[in-house]
Amino acid sequence: MPASQLFKHLGLRVPVFQAPIGAIASVELAAAISEAGGLGHLACTWRSPDQLRDMFRAARALTKRPFGANFVLDFPIDERLGIALEDGVRVISFFWGDGSTHLRRVKAAGAVAIQVVGSIDEAKRAADAGFDLVVAQGREAGGHVRGDLGTMTLVPQVVDAIAPLPVIAGGGIADRRAAAAALCLGAVGVWVGTRFLAAREANIHTEYQERVLAASADDTLYSQLFDIGWPNASLRSLKNSTTARWEQAGRALAPNRPGEGDIVARRPDGTGIPRYFFGSPTRDVEGEVEAMALYAGEGVGLVRSVQPAATIFEEFASAVADARKNNSSVGVTSHLGALF
Ligand SMILES: Cc1cc2nc3c(=O)[nH]c(=O)nc-3n(C[C@H](O)[C@H](O)[C@H](O)COP(=O)(O)O)c2cc1C
Repeated sequence: MPASQLFKHLGLRVPVFQAPIGAIASVELAAAISEAGGLGHLACTWRSPDQLRDMFRAARALTKRPFGANFVLDFPIDERLGIALEDGVRVISFFWGDGSTHLRRVKAAGAVAIQVVGSIDEAKRAADAGFDLVVAQGREAGGHVRGDLGTMTLVPQVVDAIAPLPVIAGGGIADRRAAAAALCLGAVGVWVGTRFLAAREANIHTEYQERVLAASADDTLYSQLFDIGWPNASLRSLKNSTTARWEQAGRALAPNRPGEGDIVARRPDGTGIPRYFFGSPTRDVEGEVEAMALYAGEGVGLVRSVQPAATIFEEFASAVADARKNNSSVGVTSHLGALF
């Protein structure tokens, strides 16, 4: 389906997608973005079936517009995907693996299928399999990073490789300039994670959010360090006391890393969170929050204040709308002057 038809089908005012950002993506955040005319996204991989049903119900109470449900394929997702589809979720996205084995179920339920990719090969496979939309995630991204290429090179090559399938750009899109640039690269919309860490509605621990506001791009680290619960997966997070001690120890390998086995924080039910656990701190976590995996992308240096999600959304929405207008009137290659 052409992009304009697809977005119309979803009732999107503008193709600005709040990327799934794990448990930080609260129902309030996702609903605010959908309600504003973009697409909010809930991360569904690590929720129990009951939590999922509650989340979808709560989201529907806040917005009648569609939102997305995201699944990470390194984990068992069959039952959870079934719940999302039965519940009538209209957009399903897959990350970290080939979602094509689930495609038939998604399509049969009448939902739109999105595959997040980190390489041109992955994008081609998704296009051949019949996905409706491909998200090209560049290496600048916060959280788990699928491929090795930067957004600047990945996006146009994915666009060329799978045309006319629409491509959404993700990774490093943290302000209106980056959103405009993504459209220049041939993307039809943007997939934004890190910037929404500073949304008022985000379920993010205050200490983590303060670090995001204070950080620059130099303060992120790409590593596989936070591997407890999700091994062998590269991610970008803020440098902190855990990463500093590990670097001082010569980047020692597990199980010989400094502080291995420490419990650094606790969830409200009292369960301990070990150092090197893969999850980021939500509001309700208590303890040495700073030492946890503080996911953030290279665009973090552009995130300077806590704002309502709808205000952040509007910045991207106007940039995308302007860039689309300019692209169609003057052509992608010759219109840079008109954009700024
Ligand atoms: C805190 C955080 C949690 C994330 N959790 C998920 C997730 O659950 N599922 C997923 O597909 N991607 C996840 N990602 C990756 C984002 O969906 C997205 O690809 C990335 O944030 C885009 O790059 P940016 O951070 O530079 O905007 C996460 C990213 C962050 C920052």
